[in-house]
Amino acid sequence: MTEDSHIQLTKEAMSKAYVPYSNYPVGVLIITDKGSEYSGCNVENASYPLGNCAEASAIASMVMGGEHKINKIYVMTKNDEGGIPCGGCRQRIREFSDATTEVIMCSTEGIKNRMHLSDLLPQSFGPEHL
Ligand code: THU
Repeated sequence: MTEDSHIQLTKEAMSKAYVPYSNYPVGVLIITDKGSEYSGCNVENASYPLGNCAEASAIASMVMGGEHKINKIYVMTKNDEGGIPCGGCRQRIREFSDATTEVIMCSTEGIKNRMHLSDLLPQSFGPEHL
């Protein structure tokens, strides 16, 4: 799969977002170390704080698929700067990352920025600290 097709799949995930309260759709696509693809969108509800981020949805799907290693994760929203994972989602991604895991921030126009998770969440806490 090309990066263009990954972006298309991320856009399709974003189109499924259920965001009647924020009107801020987010789509995520995870590419695992095995090359599998798992997508997710944000899902809100009337009790605002209980909504799910798109990253959490995609990670749950990956784990249900029996996989635990994120190679790349695309995050898309509709603004110009692209999707930026919140602090909580950086920690969620961290659980399934290594030094090479890339976070690819996209707008509907394409890739806006790409960073290693370790740069987005430096000196992070993870399973090896327990
Ligand atoms: N949101 C995500 O899905 N991922 C993030 O990393 C940032 C925030 C969602 C949560 C809520 O549905 C909406 O974006 C506005 O905060």
